[in-house]
Amino acid sequence: MEIIIKPTVAEAQQETAKIMRRQISRKPDSVLGLATGSTPIGVYALLAAMHEQGALDFSQVSTFNLDEYVGLEAGHPCSYREFMREHLFGKVNLAPSRIHFPDGTAKDVPLHCAEYEAAIVRAGGIDLQLLGIGREGHIGFNEPSSSLASRTRIKTLTPQTVQDNARFFGSADKVPRHVITMGVGTIMDTRHCLMLATGGGKAEAVARMAEGAITADLPASILQMHPACTLVLDEVAAAELKRCEYYRWVYDNKPEWQRV
Ligand code: PGA
Repeated sequence: MEIIIKPTVAEAQQETAKIMRRQISRKPDSVLGLATGSTPIGVYALLAAMHEQGALDFSQVSTFNLDEYVGLEAGHPCSYREFMREHLFGKVNLAPSRIHFPDGTAKDVPLHCAEYEAAIVRAGGIDLQLLGIGREGHIGFNEPSSSLASRTRIKTLTPQTVQDNARFFGSADKVPRHVITMGVGTIMDTRHCLMLATGGGKAEAVARMAEGAITADLPASILQMHPACTLVLDEVAAAELKRCEYYRWVYDNKPEWQRV
């Protein structure tokens, strides 16, 4: 796992956006896995600005979002489809036919989940998966005790995640209890995982993920087994890591050809 520690949230967002831009520049028809939540908002703003300045073309890019709430009708302001429209899709030249989401209104959920997995395979697999981390260590909505081999399926949110996401809905009782999420195994199949974590609320989960035991109790810890995982942090999110100085040393001594 490559661990990049930046002094500020803004610099961590810039590094993340640059890694995504490099992916799209190298492979214009990249398949991106995308995440929602507060953390990636700044990254999406930077990508939209790069597009606006003519420095980033999404015309051949395909996207698959990690997750969606069950039961929110199309156009619901708290649906992740709306979130993505507001923060990225409405601002760049992505073809609507190349945008993919789990459908939280699917009648046959297991069938829909199998079709989502099949669509990822048909697209050639995900080249770069953007990830956040929950305070209890989820990736996507793979909450603690998720199978580390899981595929796209329905999950029940933990009370902590319901609380954490209440700010988007106005109150916790409005947050759906169920979601459809790519599985841990689905995420592990992606070619490059790019996690951004910022703020002190993530410090403990980040330290357990990167330096603790691999355990379903903290699903993000499986990323230690991913052959290409980049973790971008601000100072505060990195505060509980034991080997901060070593990670900075590695970054400072990176060969020129590896730099973004
Ligand atoms: P956040 O969520 O960015 O809103 O903190 C991250 C996540 O749950 O993956």
